[in-house]
Amino acid sequence: SQDELDEIYAFAIDLGRKAGDMLMERVEQRISGGNDPQTFEEKENAVDIVTQTDEDVEVFIRNAIQSKYPSHQFLGEETYAKGASRDYLIDEQPTWCIDPLDGTVNYTHIFPMFCVSIGFIVQHRPIIGVIYAPFQDQLFSACSGRGAWLNEKRRLPLLHNPIPPMPANAPSQCIFSCEWGKDRRDIPDGNMHRKIESFVNMAAEIGARDGKGGMVHGMRSLGSATLDLAYTAMGSFDIWWEGGCWEWDVAAGIAILLEAGGLVTTANPPENPDTAPIGDVRLGSRLYLAIRPAGPSATETGRESQ
Ligand code: IPD
Repeated sequence: SQDELDEIYAFAIDLGRKAGDMLMERVEQRISGGNDPQTFEEKENAVDIVTQTDEDVEVFIRNAIQSKYPSHQFLGEETYAKGASRDYLIDEQPTWCIDPLDGTVNYTHIFPMFCVSIGFIVQHRPIIGVIYAPFQDQLFSACSGRGAWLNEKRRLPLLHNPIPPMPANAPSQCIFSCEWGKDRRDIPDGNMHRKIESFVNMAAEIGARDGKGGMVHGMRSLGSATLDLAYTAMGSFDIWWEGGCWEWDVAAGIAILLEAGGLVTTANPPENPDTAPIGDVRLGSRLYLAIRPAGPSATETGRESQ
């Protein structure tokens, strides 16, 4: 029921803030310690790293969830990495899907774009999302039917952007965002130059066809897939895509983006799109593409005519 969901939502917000405060305590310790050891361990390769903080914060979140909601399932990045998971990652059951520290590389370098990411999924659909970036004190949150919010007071998206969202404007005048990714088996830069090149070329090609100029406004790479989705929900990014994400990187962000009115698609759409609810997202994909919301007053201001 909506009452139950509201209770879960309030719990998730409180938990996100507490976990974010834990991250900041560690940052403060590292800053004031002077001699910052920057300790991390490698997982799959030299750019896939984990710190003690990831693990401690995940234990804190997992304990809190399991004592409050013992019947709910739990999927966390570090629990999974330690091999404690199931064959399938998400099923029909209510599942908490969390990344205790998204942007571990940023955290390690004390680049402020790191966050706690808490998603709640029912029947494959992320319906509650809480993302807290403690260095910037930015809390993104959403619950199905309750809107998407920044710091619980500003509704997302923040602005009606005069540039229509994709596909109407694909993709000239956009800020697009993509990441370096962690799978560098073949190419050390994770294919970044190819991603940029193909995007810019696509813009130019479409621009040549529709006479709109065909130039992107810019390209960003935050280092956190979770925050990429939150910034797309804000309307700051027009498009984000990444191959290689896991469920915990995207669950909370998808809940927030959908509630803000944005779109997200995966490489594994529902088996029967005709019967799936609008915005249904099957996690389990590694490839995601997100498009920002049109904005609250987009239809009144004549978006369709542009
Ligand atoms: C990673 C970050 C990164 C993205 C990777 C994620 P982590 O998460 O979000 O930007 O490119 O796909 O796995 O390891 O920092 O939690």
